[in-house]
Amino acid sequence: MLNLAVESVDSAGLPQHSVSGNEGKLLHLLARLQRARTILEIGTLGAYSTIWLARSLPNDGQLITVEVNLDHAEVARANIERAGLAELVELREGHGLEILEQLSNEKKGPFDLIFIDADKRNNPQYFEWSLRLSRQNTLIIVDNVVRGGDVIDPQSNDASIRGVRELFEKLSSDSRVSATAIQTVGSKGHDGFILAIVNDE
Ligand code: DHB
Ligand code: MG
Repeated sequence: MLNLAVESVDSAGLPQHSVSGNEGKLLHLLARLQRARTILEIGTLGAYSTIWLARSLPNDGQLITVEVNLDHAEVARANIERAGLAELVELREGHGLEILEQLSNEKKGPFDLIFIDADKRNNPQYFEWSLRLSRQNTLIIVDNVVRGGDVIDPQSNDASIRGVRELFEKLSSDSRVSATAIQTVGSKGHDGFILAIVNDE
């Protein structure tokens, strides 16, 4: 089923931005370690990471995933159904920041695990919203925070790099979380995840 998800992302011409197999498995293991029952994902693409994460959930668990691109959402919906996960996964179409506000207004959460993998320039804002949708010990994971090492360039004008750097800057002095970055290497090259755990009040 995961191979079918990869193939459909390829054949539908979606960007090659899904997490790799080893990263998907790491997300799955982290969700199991966290004993997550509720997961929020920002940035669905073709639902490849969604499927890895949703497979960690108990039968009464729930994953909400947010996708801004309607073509991507259509591919994702088909992949979620084909994986037999339609009962566990709710796909919301719209911009991450708007949907996060909507979830907050609906009093959704707190989520046990939040995976941020959308437009990188908005990472700091996604992180702030994630904290509002969290509890003590929620695990927040952010994708693409190394980007082949480009993230260490303080002069970069790339909006994605700047978004990631701004988030690192914020985390270095934010007592609301304990965070680190873990580098990954594999079929998607050299990249990494931020792992952040929400501290006590
Ligand atoms: C990009 C986005 C991703 O989520 C990813 O995993 C790799 C690359 C990008 O926008 O370049
Ligand atoms: Mg990504």
